[in-house]
Amino acid sequence: MNKILTLGIETSCDETAAAVLCGGRELLSNVISTQIPLHRKFGGVVPEIASRKHIVNIMPVIDEAISSAGVTLRKINQIAVTRGPGLAGALLVGISAAKSLSYALKIPLIGVNHLEGHIFANFLSSPELEPPFLSLVVSGGHTALIKMTGYNNFELLGQSRDDAAGEAFDKIARVMNLPYPGGPEIDKLAKLGDPNAITFPHPKVAGYDFSFSGLKSAVLNFLNTAQMKGEKISAADVAASFQRTVVETLAEKTLAAAEEFKLDKIVLAGGVAANSSLEKTLRTSCTRRGLKFFYPTKILCTDNAAMIACRGFYQKNFSDSTLNAVPNLGL
Ligand code: KG4
Ligand code: ZN
Repeated sequence: MNKILTLGIETSCDETAAAVLCGGRELLSNVISTQIPLHRKFGGVVPEIASRKHIVNIMPVIDEAISSAGVTLRKINQIAVTRGPGLAGALLVGISAAKSLSYALKIPLIGVNHLEGHIFANFLSSPELEPPFLSLVVSGGHTALIKMTGYNNFELLGQSRDDAAGEAFDKIARVMNLPYPGGPEIDKLAKLGDPNAITFPHPKVAGYDFSFSGLKSAVLNFLNTAQMKGEKISAADVAASFQRTVVETLAEKTLAAAEEFKLDKIVLAGGVAANSSLEKTLRTSCTRRGLKFFYPTKILCTDNAAMIACRGFYQKNFSDSTLNAVPNLGL
């Protein structure tokens, strides 16, 4: 029997992406057209510019995904598209393209939750991975601990009450005059600094919820005070000390949840999963405790359509032509 071919489409933020997946785990193509250079001069994503750029890019990106997969549109069996969370206008571009193709080709349409997609990126990087597991999802907009007991069974154990981890990285980087997106820049700079040089307060939140706004304010206050007093500080030490605090907080809660819920697999997901220190810390801690650790390859950590196609493949419910963007969609 021929395997199902899924076309994935992702336009929730500043990447226009399309991918073709064969069955549940065999990636045939993964095309990502990033808008980062365009938004960099504004220090962050400008929603209106993002939507317009998605409109220009969407069909060429889909065409490239189809041709580099070595297939034709007629061979595609179903289309999975991000329906939220994300920027409304940006999401609508992907959804409109997906709906039009699904109607023209008479094939099913699947509206996908972007956060679930981030977790599913791991099935592509590690084809042997199966639920149950504990997933730490850390992106620009979300920080969450999720217990996944089946492909369609998610239990939210905790999430950020304010800023997401990626948001804190980006805001601090901006004040330090580092280019957008700030996460990878802080990651790079932190390698040159001493992670124990400055003690920033560890966020203290009960249970498995997170909070990063207090830590963010403490780092910003530190930078402002130094500037007002004309004190010279090491930007690398600030980056390394801030990053250590975030990584320790994320790792502590993740390991505690794995122990309480008796889960022996830890799955890292989302853009911040690309952080070298987070990956290394979790890997070391998991090895020490006899837990298995999974994280996506770099290209599958940040936004892409391969993860959306994979989520769509395992999803049981299909969408119809009323599918709409849900900018604040939760897990
Ligand atoms: O998942 P993602 O691509 O988009 C959202 O769904 O939000 O995540 C983007 C976030 C940004 O905040 C970016 O700064 C952060 O991931 N990020 C990183 C690294 N690479 C990307 N944060 C820390 N270290 C990195 N290496
Ligand atoms: Zn994302």
